[in-house]
Amino acid sequence: MERIRLDQIDSTNTYAKKHALEFKKEGITCITAEEQTAGRGRFERVWVSPKGVNLYVSFFFLLPLDFKNFSCLGHLAIHSLAQVLIQEGLEPKIKWPNDLLLTGKKLSGVLCELSTRGNSVEVILGIGINVNMATDALDTIDQPATSLLAETGHIWDKEHLLKALQGQLVHDLSLFKEAGFRPFHPFFNTRLAYRGKKVKVLEGEKEWIGICDSITLDGKLKIELENGEYYDFAAGILTPLGK
Ligand code: BTN
Repeated sequence: MERIRLDQIDSTNTYAKKHALEFKKEGITCITAEEQTAGRGRFERVWVSPKGVNLYVSFFFLLPLDFKNFSCLGHLAIHSLAQVLIQEGLEPKIKWPNDLLLTGKKLSGVLCELSTRGNSVEVILGIGINVNMATDALDTIDQPATSLLAETGHIWDKEHLLKALQGQLVHDLSLFKEAGFRPFHPFFNTRLAYRGKKVKVLEGEKEWIGICDSITLDGKLKIELENGEYYDFAAGILTPLGK
């Protein structure tokens, strides 16, 4: 895997987008930064990206235009990271669509950005992982957040973690290209956060309330609405309600 190490950048995803034509067409290019001055999350949110403590990484690769599973690429990234953390003895939960939680707080998120280039699609999978972020810094984040340091009480080796993530992603991407989301689907349901709990889903302007049921075979979130009907969400912002 090609590696580009940056010291300070606005956003590794933005960098990947700007420099896409310089990267190899085969394989994966991995861009990391020590610090992001304009780290971006889903829905134009800010990704808090202080210097030196966390992993800010974007994986760039090309897929054919007729590929069937673009909507599950973020799921793929979160699966790879969850597997790495499980191997480290942790118990991550997946908050649909693409967040990883530890003890109910956000550890990591994925920003997947796609653009068409001829017969291919440029994929940028941006992953932010709170690694060695201290509690006072975590408190500045606008939602309950955690880090590996906060959860385990010790400093983590970021490079070791990145190497494991790279290896897992290469493995997962090759299976994903062959078989799509199906082989990953059971894992998502086992690790799904808020299953059986009351949740709210914000879909555009519309707010839905129901019981979090499961993940569908195409990666959507199935909710049992208050009228007893089921609804599958392709995108949205999920919030737990009550306990
Ligand atoms: C989210 O949870 O909303 C997604 C957060 C994604 C953050 C990562 S950090 C590396 C890459 N560069 C960015 O600007 N964003 C992603």
